[in-house]
Amino acid sequence: MGDSRMPEDKIAAAAAYVLERWGTRHPRIGLVLGSGLGPIADRLEDPIAVDYADIPGFSHTTVPGHQGRLLCGRLSDRDVAVMQGRFHYYEGHAIADIAFPIRVLRKVGIADLILTNAAGGVNRSFRPGDLMLITDHIGLFCEPVLRGPNLDDLGPRFPDQSRVYDRDLAALARASAAGSERPLREGVYVYCKGPQFETPAEIRLIAALGGDAVGMSTVPEAVAATHCGMRVLGISCITNAAAGILDQPLSHAEVLEAGRELSARAVQLVETVIGKMPAARG
Ligand code: HPA
Repeated sequence: MGDSRMPEDKIAAAAAYVLERWGTRHPRIGLVLGSGLGPIADRLEDPIAVDYADIPGFSHTTVPGHQGRLLCGRLSDRDVAVMQGRFHYYEGHAIADIAFPIRVLRKVGIADLILTNAAGGVNRSFRPGDLMLITDHIGLFCEPVLRGPNLDDLGPRFPDQSRVYDRDLAALARASAAGSERPLREGVYVYCKGPQFETPAEIRLIAALGGDAVGMSTVPEAVAATHCGMRVLGISCITNAAAGILDQPLSHAEVLEAGRELSARAVQLVETVIGKMPAARG
């Protein structure tokens, strides 16, 4: 089904729909839930849920364990917008469709975006159940999310990427994790398109490139978010040792199970960070 409207008009139409449904709510913090963070959706006070299917221009999610709703509610005394379910390239979405919801979030006023994900641990000192602050990423294996005519109203043609993950938000995450039973890991997240897990040889390559964790999301969203001027915080839930590190096959069921086990700690970290983030719109 073709849509001949300009991308800016599609973003504006989706944002207008969402704002109308949210009424007087004006969150400035956005949160994208990866596997493991799902339970946060149930912790929102006074939630207003909008199905992706009802938002003009939004795609539909197809991954088990990922629902498709945009929620607005109170968490840690802040208004937050929560993407419960995200779009992955491997589902068949065009890369621009992964940027779209992020741009809509910007348009409705989100200034700070927390991206969470499940990831395989490449760094051999990581253990399943660890949480990793993303300090940088390698997106070289990702389709270029900003390809095509630049949306000048959103951001520049050649956006700087020297600080995709905001240092102040990273400092809040470190402070939030201080004293927790397991130390917060830090490292470089490497994007792979999936949906197949990586081969051991690919993981050796990723390690040689400087990667600490590997996953199939987050990078397109982080690039789109920085392009339009959002501050980004990235948290990976390390659900498994990446392929070849242990002599055992990987499975999505294992990833989901590990995500459930670490979710209480992940939820707590994210809630604490949100409680330290600016509440007022800026
Ligand atoms: N590889 C890619 N994506 C993932 C993994 C992995 O090992 N674990 C969770 N998401």
